[in-house]
Amino acid sequence: MRAGKFITFEGIDGSGKTTQIRYLADYLESLGYEILLLREPGGTKISEEIRRILLDMKNEGMEPETELFLFEAARSQLVREVIGPALERGAWVISDRFHDSTTAYQGYGRGLPLDMVHELNRRAIGDVVPDMTILIELGAEARKSRLGKRREDGQRDRLDVESEAFKQRVCDGFLAIAEEEPDRVFRIESQDNKEDTARLIREQVRRILL
Ligand code: TYD
Repeated sequence: MRAGKFITFEGIDGSGKTTQIRYLADYLESLGYEILLLREPGGTKISEEIRRILLDMKNEGMEPETELFLFEAARSQLVREVIGPALERGAWVISDRFHDSTTAYQGYGRGLPLDMVHELNRRAIGDVVPDMTILIELGAEARKSRLGKRREDGQRDRLDVESEAFKQRVCDGFLAIAEEEPDRVFRIESQDNKEDTARLIREQVRRILL
């Protein structure tokens, strides 16, 4: 039995997920919940090692299937070693990306068959399905300017350098997921002011989970 709650954040790179996760975690902590913050890929020793392989700019020859299996391998470990036990003891787990990223990036972005992606997602996560998912949406212009800043900072990884067309397919993929699962996935438009976005997210979480 699951005593805790599981929230995932999704969106294209540069959508401001990480900042918003921090705001939500602070809010839930102030209500007295135990909060566990995670990011995917990563969160366990093995998953962090897989992350390094996935994001390494030197691995430009990685095949789409290899990429898919590595994301699922990292996730299998994280679910069994960390997320499952945390939910059982009653913690609230918030993850920066989860299985919807694989559907959007490897399925819609890379063009791998969606039935294969869904099946591997199911195998990796079992019944650890998020209680709710926040999809942060950002217009194409705002996205370019935010990503431009990251590039100047030299923080690029293997997936950051993908084409605009790839990113557009990923965005379309996230929207398709939101349409298919409207009871789990909530679209939040990123506002100019971060605190306004945080408030929208808080309202949604209160409505659904509190
Ligand atoms: P990260 O630096 O964590 O990106 P972000 O801050 O945008 O979340 O890098 C993770 C990258 O991996 C990101 O480009 C999205 C991608 N990704 C996938 O392609 N598939 C997946 O299943 C996951 C979890 C991430």
